[in-house]
This record gives sequence, structure tokens and C-alpha cells, in this order.
Amino acid sequence: MGKDVIIACDFSSKQACLDFLDKFTEEKPFVKIGMELFYAEGPSIVKAIKERGHKIFLDLKLHDIPNTVMKAMNVLSNLDADICNLHAGGTKAMMEAAVKGLTRPDGTRPLLIAVTQLTSTSQEAMTTDLLIDRPIDEVVMHYAKNAADAGLDGVVCSPLEAGKVHALCGEKFLTVTPGVRFADGDVGDQKRVMTPAQAKEIGSDYIVVGRPITAAEDPVAAYRRCCNEFIG
Ligand code: C5P
Repeated sequence: MGKDVIIACDFSSKQACLDFLDKFTEEKPFVKIGMELFYAEGPSIVKAIKERGHKIFLDLKLHDIPNTVMKAMNVLSNLDADICNLHAGGTKAMMEAAVKGLTRPDGTRPLLIAVTQLTSTSQEAMTTDLLIDRPIDEVVMHYAKNAADAGLDGVVCSPLEAGKVHALCGEKFLTVTPGVRFADGDVGDQKRVMTPAQAKEIGSDYIVVGRPITAAEDPVAAYRRCCNEFIG
């Protein structure tokens, strides 16, 4: 898969999500379904959006004992998502089990990527709450390497980290980066942001864009602007 813009469809119901996607009459954007929509509507939401011709990043961030994650991934493999994810903090053994569970009998599977440390976790919280006393950058890179060693396809990371992840884990190891804003747009609650053009420059493979598109007056125009800047 090449570079693409993934729209974070953070809606609370299927209807709201489909009303939004109905605005796209010419393109079929790559859609990210997160916990809110998945828990509200159940697995059928994935099939419903997939049947409309969209690729799906199913952002459920699994984290449990290896056997449980393997079985859960096995169930998810039937939904035909294009990308699934988990927490790298679940250990290499959990990530290896996830790859195994996600792989279908014919050997195919969705791409599997890892969240390293959530961007909402500060250095202070990591040290005091989690008792991890290494610098957060080092932890993020170490977790990315663990994910690569476990056979995963990439990580979710800040666009600011994408270049370093590629240097450590290889150019083919995917970097999927949220925290994208237009140069003239609202930053909102995101702290470390980049424009789509900067994300392209630094080598992100996919950008995940929510509110700059979903809350735009003209979402289709905002999506096209993102694609023009990021893909060219
Ligand atoms: O609206 P916005 O563009 O900020 O949406 C970004 C999306 O990416 C949201 O769905 C958010 O949960 C997700 N995300 C993030 N930062 C991370 C991981 C996921 O913003 N580190």
C-alpha cells in the first residue's frame, strides 16, 4: 500500500458516520474506526463501511495476555479490516501471538501496527505512574524495534518520530501518524503537530486526520487539500 490519508471517523453512531461518508461522492477515503464507534455499533460497522468501498484501519489497541490477544485477533481477521493495532507494551510475546491470530488459513492478514507510548503519556507520568525511568524517546524507539522484531508492519507515532523509526526499523516499516494540522488551522488539543506537507517531507507512510476534515465546513475540500499536500 502506498501513502494515504486516513480519516479518523470519531463519530458516536453508524448514522453519523455514514452521513459524513455520504458527502464523498467521488473518492472513497481510508477510514479509521476507533473504540467509540466500534463499541457503539459492534463489528457490523466494519463490514458496513467496507462494503461501501472504503479501506479500514480498525483502531482498537488490543492489550492482554498473549493467548487472549491471539484469539481476539483471530476473530478480527474475519472483519476484513486493512489495518489493526495493539499496544507494544503488551510485550513481544503478545505481539507475536497477535500476528499468529490475525493470519488467516490462506496466509493473508491485515497489516498490524503497534502503539508505542500514547502521546497523552508524559515523561513524568511514565516515570511516576509506570516506573519507567528511561527517556520517553528511547522507550518509543525500543518498543518500535520490539514490534519490528515480533513481525509487525509498523507503528503509530508522532510525525516528528517517523524519520527516526524508519532509520531504526527500516524504510518498509510503516509509520502511521496522527497529530496533523493545516498550517492555517486550529491545533485543538494536539500538542506536537505537523502539516500534511511536513509529514510527507519527514517520511510518514499514512497520516491520520480527524477534526481538520470531519469538523471542516467543506470536509471533501479539506480531504482533497490533505491528499494534495501529503500525496501530491
Ligand atoms: O481530530 P484529530 O485529527 O486530532 O484526530 C486524531 C485521531 O488520531 C484521533 O482518532 C485520535 O484518537 C488518534 N490518535 C492521536 N494520537 C495518538 C494516537 C491516536 O491523536 N497518539
